Formats: sequence, structure tokens, C-alpha cells
Amino acid sequence: MIKIGVLTISDKGSKGQREDKSGQVIRDSAPAMKGRVVKYEIVPDEKETIAARLRDWADGGEMDVILTTGGTGLAGRDVTPEATLSIIDREVPGIAEAMRVKSLEKTPTAMLSRAVAGQRGKCLIVNLPGSTRAVKECLEAIMPVLPHAVDIIRGKVTEHSLQDAGIN
Ligand code: MTE
Repeated sequence: MIKIGVLTISDKGSKGQREDKSGQVIRDSAPAMKGRVVKYEIVPDEKETIAARLRDWADGGEMDVILTTGGTGLAGRDVTPEATLSIIDREVPGIAEAMRVKSLEKTPTAMLSRAVAGQRGKCLIVNLPGSTRAVKECLEAIMPVLPHAVDIIRGKVTEHSLQDAGIN
């Protein structure tokens, strides 16, 4: 069972001026990821606030994966990738690459998401774009590999056992 934190990043959502449909999509998708949502919050598009929350959640050791939604685009207030990069130990670029490649098969605007993914300690952090459609499409792209990524981070499997399991 993967323990998941869902962090929605939205100025309007954080003030209760907009229903958080994207966060809800992630929460509804948890069982398909063999996961359970253990933490959920909405924060405004403020780099320091986002970074602090990601740092606290990752260091708390309660969750294996943090999925953020929103703030990955080109608008002035979009700072989720910068906040994420400021607190991760190292990037896992293939996750963001896979999301964009798969998403580009559906919509050219996928190239406008600057989403990043990376590790802080034993926690995997993945940015998802803000729309419900984007969340569904991006989760579809990474879902098959997420449980194995978590197992590797936990030290439960090696890359060879992934090959043996027919994953790669
Ligand atoms: N990715 C997928 N799979 N599907 C989408 O509809 N929308 C794009 C992109 N990624 C989209 C997508 C759009 S229109 C934007 S502006 C960027 O994500 C950034 O979105 P965000 O600022 O809400 O994070």
C-alpha cells in the first residue's frame, strides 16, 4: 500500500473560491495506484509555502509519494516546479518526461507544463498539472510504474527484480 499526500496548489482553491476537482481526481485514483491518501491540503501559489509543505510532509516520513496538482504552467504565479526543485535531493526526470510524452499524444498544450519529479529522502514528489483532464492523463502515464518506484526507494526491489517481473 502506497501512502500518498495530495497537495493542491491554487490561490482560489486555498481561499475556498474554487472547488478542488483535480485534488479530488487524485484522491479518487488512489486505489488504482495501490495507494491510500494520508494527507490532503490546498495551499496558494506561493513558492515558500509550497516548499515548506513539501519539506515537512517528506521529512515526516508518513508518506511514500506526494502528488501536487497545479501551478506548473507559464503564468506569473505558477511556481510549483521551482518550489519542488528547491527542496528535492535529486530529480527523477523520466517521470516528468513520460507524462509529457504520453500527454502530447492527446494535446499539444502538454508541452506547456513545466512539471518536475524528484526524491527527498525516501519520498517521491511528482508535480501534475492543474486541470482534471491533465491529472487523469498524467496519472495514467505514471500509474503502472509508481508502486515499483516506491518499492525501489524503500529498498524492497532492485532494478533486476523489476526486469524479472516483466516491467522493463
Ligand atoms: N497535460 C495533459 N495530459 N492534459 C492537458 O490537458 N494541459 C496543459 C498542460 N498539461 C494538459 C496537460 C496546459 S493547457 C497547461 S497551461 C499546463 O499543463 C500547465 O497547467 P497548470 O499551470 O495548471 O499546472
